[in-house]
Amino acid sequence: MINIAILGFGVVGSGTCDVLSNNAEIIKKRIGDEIYVKKILDLRDFPDSPYKDRVTHDADEVFGDPDIKVAVETIGGARVAYDYTKRALSAGISVVTSNKELVSTHGVELMKLACDNGCVYLFEAAVGGGIPIIRPLYKCLAANNIVKIAGIVNGTTNYILSSMKNSGISYEGALKKAQQKGYAEQDPTADCEGIDAQRKISILSSIVMDGKYCDPSKIHAEGISKLTTEDIALARAIGCELKLIAYFGNNGDGTASAFVAPHFVDKACMLSDVEGVFNAVLVEGDYLGQAVFYGRGAGSYPTASAVAGDVIEACVNGSVDMKTRLWDDSVSVFRDYDDIKSDFVVYSEDDDMDLSAVLPSAQAVENASGVNAVIVNDITEAELKSKLEGKSGIEYKHYLK
Ligand code: HSE
Repeated sequence: MINIAILGFGVVGSGTCDVLSNNAEIIKKRIGDEIYVKKILDLRDFPDSPYKDRVTHDADEVFGDPDIKVAVETIGGARVAYDYTKRALSAGISVVTSNKELVSTHGVELMKLACDNGCVYLFEAAVGGGIPIIRPLYKCLAANNIVKIAGIVNGTTNYILSSMKNSGISYEGALKKAQQKGYAEQDPTADCEGIDAQRKISILSSIVMDGKYCDPSKIHAEGISKLTTEDIALARAIGCELKLIAYFGNNGDGTASAFVAPHFVDKACMLSDVEGVFNAVLVEGDYLGQAVFYGRGAGSYPTASAVAGDVIEACVNGSVDMKTRLWDDSVSVFRDYDDIKSDFVVYSEDDDMDLSAVLPSAQAVENASGVNAVIVNDITEAELKSKLEGKSGIEYKHYLK
């Protein structure tokens, strides 16, 4: 029997107990051993839970127990979760987590700690919830140079944008609806200002740049709180959908670019069809071409499915060699946003505005709605802004084909 502990018995922690318990037989068949949740560490009591007898408020009962091999950290945030993760790894207990904030801010240190103590730190659930993306990048796609990632990695904002489109309601109205349904937090800042997506693309970028750490605080992040139903209608009028995209691009010269911003996503791109709380991550490898990983990016059981998968991985001795996964923050290869070239749709409500005169390299966007729009490729936002300086009535958004 392999004993594990759950740190934080919230939505994901309790979901993980359910997955491991309800599928105990098939998991036992697959790994040849039984996984048992021996302790649940939480401040609260859970008198109605079938796992109530395992709940403890005493961290020493977990970190001082030599029988516990794996701890599931589903506390969230980067304070208590950080302390407990360090305690567990220092004691040689592997940690698996869905905590993107912790992985993206302290992953360098925590992976090194796991490595030094002969255990593992795994975080499949930190990006894309239940969608397999971390392990595919590390394993299945290991033979590729990953040249591009474009992800809808935040379900709350995608739900809000879908509601605005389908019900014609404002950002504020759609946010309220998302809060009522339990998708959005009471403080929606991290989701709606792109901070959650910033953390997730930082993790994916650090992985595909072979451990060259991408600091989330240096990633430009623009959220959805300023978007309007007019922006959405305009995107659709020219054959696009308005989506919050977390982007990674390998510049091919040893540097990479990562940012989060609303994009006009061309209908030809599969990400344009991703609706509601769903997530999708498009990955382009030099030999793979493009693949899209799609599914439920949040929620108790989908996220628990990924966490439980990592628990199984951590229980199989020697499954992951942390030495090959360490992140290095000594040199940054990530460009500042001001130096990142992107494609943009530039548009004007003024039909007489000659956009090609302002932007000679731009191509007109043919559309039946008669919207005056052009696409400008491979330009920094700063350069674009300077070309548009002094011209009124012109707007732009990043463009993804
Ligand atoms: N707040 C996140 C989202 C939860 O809306 O996608 C999953 O990371």
